[in-house]
Amino acid sequence: MLLQENIQNVLSEIQQLTAKDEKELEGLRIKYLSKKGVVAQLMAEFRNVSADQKKELGIALNQLKNAALDKINNLREGLHANKCQCDTQVDLTRTPYPIPLGTRHPLSIIRNEIIDIFTRLGFSLADGPEIEDDLHVFTKMNFAADHPARDMQDTFFIETSQDNVEKNVILRSHTSSVQARVMETQQPPIRVICPGRVFRNETITARAHCFFHQVEGLYIDKNVSFADLKQVLLLFAQEMFGKDTKIRLRPSYFPFTEPSAEMDISCHICGGKGCSFCKHTGWVEILGCGMVDPNVLELSGIDSKIYSGYAFGMGIERITNLKYMIKDLRLFSENDVRFLKEFISAN
Ligand code: DAH
Repeated sequence: MLLQENIQNVLSEIQQLTAKDEKELEGLRIKYLSKKGVVAQLMAEFRNVSADQKKELGIALNQLKNAALDKINNLREGLHANKCQCDTQVDLTRTPYPIPLGTRHPLSIIRNEIIDIFTRLGFSLADGPEIEDDLHVFTKMNFAADHPARDMQDTFFIETSQDNVEKNVILRSHTSSVQARVMETQQPPIRVICPGRVFRNETITARAHCFFHQVEGLYIDKNVSFADLKQVLLLFAQEMFGKDTKIRLRPSYFPFTEPSAEMDISCHICGGKGCSFCKHTGWVEILGCGMVDPNVLELSGIDSKIYSGYAFGMGIERITNLKYMIKDLRLFSENDVRFLKEFISAN
């Protein structure tokens, strides 16, 4: 009955078998099922078994052989299944597709377009702080000490303590302050545009907001004339609103320019014929501009007898509203994705 016992031992051994890879599995197959393997050796012993035991042991040996074959096959299938699982397993390091791509904010699209137009005309970019001082926002821009724009109704002053409002630290109310910053560090020729955010103490409505965006332009060199200003603004208007766009300049007043003007473009909706959009005038206002006041040059240490310059300032919201016909300023800062998704940038 030694063979009987051996068969049982090998059977339970086989049932416990595991293989971590194909190589190990092949080793087991050779060990148990090859010509000189464990099962074959037991088969060889079968020859010496007495006749009365042949039937019982023959069945047991066949069962053992089948059990070994089944086990090896099962292990192989298991390895294969694991391998497939590896191939299809979720790779958590991969980027999930499709990526829900956002769109640029409409104000960024228009700001980039403005930057693009002026950099093609030779302007470079300049930047300044949003938290500014009175000197750069007002004094150096030739605002009189009692100018109403300095009033707390318009300008945000920084509170340094509950009952002490620091009159000198303010949120800039226009990007013209960057003009003063640029003139401090650069000598003419200066040709810059300064895009940025500005703040005014306004009640938030469809037409006004406590913060908005501007682009300031400044060109200082010898013999800069009003004709240069007009030509650059015409080019800008035609690039931005189409080549048939006309401009007109109306006399105006700003402390930092003399003479000053406000620029209108021919209404891009009706082409200048007059419609409800342009209040039947055929024109819409887009920016303020003028020749840099000699006082502004002198206050920043530039000799106004040698140099002259022009400046202009426009609201990015205004241009964006005109381009996309947006009527409510609040949409720009509400972050409603249904609104934001409508704008597909060309660049
Ligand atoms: N700073 C003016 C504003 O905020 C805009 C402006 C007008 C800027 C005329 C200029 C300019 O540089 O020349 O309303």
